[in-house]
Amino acid sequence: MESKTPKTPEWPLKVKLFIKIYKARLFLQNHLRKSKFWNNIEEKGNDKMAVTIDLKGKKAVVFGIANDKSIAWHIAKRLNDAGCRIFAAYQERTEQMSVPLIKTLDNPIYEKCDVVSDELLDSFFKKVKEEFGEVDFLIHSIAFAKREHLQGKYMGIDRRGYQVAHEVSSYSLAELTRRIAPMMKKGGSIIAMTYLGSEKVTPGYNIMGVAKAALESSVRYLAYDLGEQKIRVNAISAGPIATLAASGIAGFPEMLLNYVAKSPLKRNITADEVADCALFLCSNLSKAITGQVIFVDAGYSAMGI
Ligand SMILES: NC(=O)c1ccc[n+]([C@@H]2O[C@H](COP(=O)([O-])OP(=O)(O)OC[C@H]3O[C@@H](n4cnc5c(N)ncnc54)[C@H](O)[C@@H]3O)[C@@H](O)[C@H]2O)c1
Repeated sequence: MESKTPKTPEWPLKVKLFIKIYKARLFLQNHLRKSKFWNNIEEKGNDKMAVTIDLKGKKAVVFGIANDKSIAWHIAKRLNDAGCRIFAAYQERTEQMSVPLIKTLDNPIYEKCDVVSDELLDSFFKKVKEEFGEVDFLIHSIAFAKREHLQGKYMGIDRRGYQVAHEVSSYSLAELTRRIAPMMKKGGSIIAMTYLGSEKVTPGYNIMGVAKAALESSVRYLAYDLGEQKIRVNAISAGPIATLAASGIAGFPEMLLNYVAKSPLKRNITADEVADCALFLCSNLSKAITGQVIFVDAGYSAMGI
């Protein structure tokens, strides 16, 4: 495969201003979170649960933290709060938003990586081996397709657009799994993120639906490959959540409205609810579950209307 190291883009003034505001918001959130006032609010809002999941001593490699809306961020935070140490991969173009956020975790390690660059993949996994030695979990929460291929007719896709969407959104799961599996010496859990557009037509989702179908099939084949090593591979199929990636999909606002109108729970879901499922899939509570696509979608996928 062709190896290309992406260059850091020169951001326009508007984006630089946005990044400054973003960092100030993170700073305030962090200080609030540490205060007694915040803890009181959180305690009141939390459901009292009978089971607590303890991941102390565990290590996770997380791909896909772009900003504080990213599903990967919510998963990383949930695993971190359960005692798991995080090694985060971020793309160079999101560095100014990803790194200040990742730094708020407990003793995190982070390194830039881009799944289309063999050079960056080699140096990233070299560092994972040096720092972690053994790994317990891999979170694959990345996808990419050109904006013009997430609107209009699916048949408008061109060869390069098809390739890039599959390379980043689907092939990368096999690539990351192959590199990390030898480090999962005591077994492990690998989680990918998918969407219902893999099975049912979602206008605008187009090439991403086709790439997600390949991703879900990869999950099943990888689960078979790695079952004897006690490495489980699953995908979470999440309902729509407003993130950077979702903003590229034409018709995304309609998707949000549809879930409120048609799902059994009559609402949208949150990234924290996806993180809850990821925590379950990393824990022993899910030790007999592999090769599955688990829906966190307020029941939308069960409906026929
Ligand atoms: N937001 C939703 O509604 C939704 C629903 C279901 C599934 N998903 C899936 O969840 C995953 C995470 O997306 P998100 O919604 O949190 O958006 P996001 O934009 O926050 O995350 C996408 C991530 O992919 C990373 N990425 C893109 N190309 C990459 C590359 N070449 N190398 C390395 N990383 C790369 C980006 O840096 C970013 O961190 C995706 O697989 C997405 O398809 C999202």
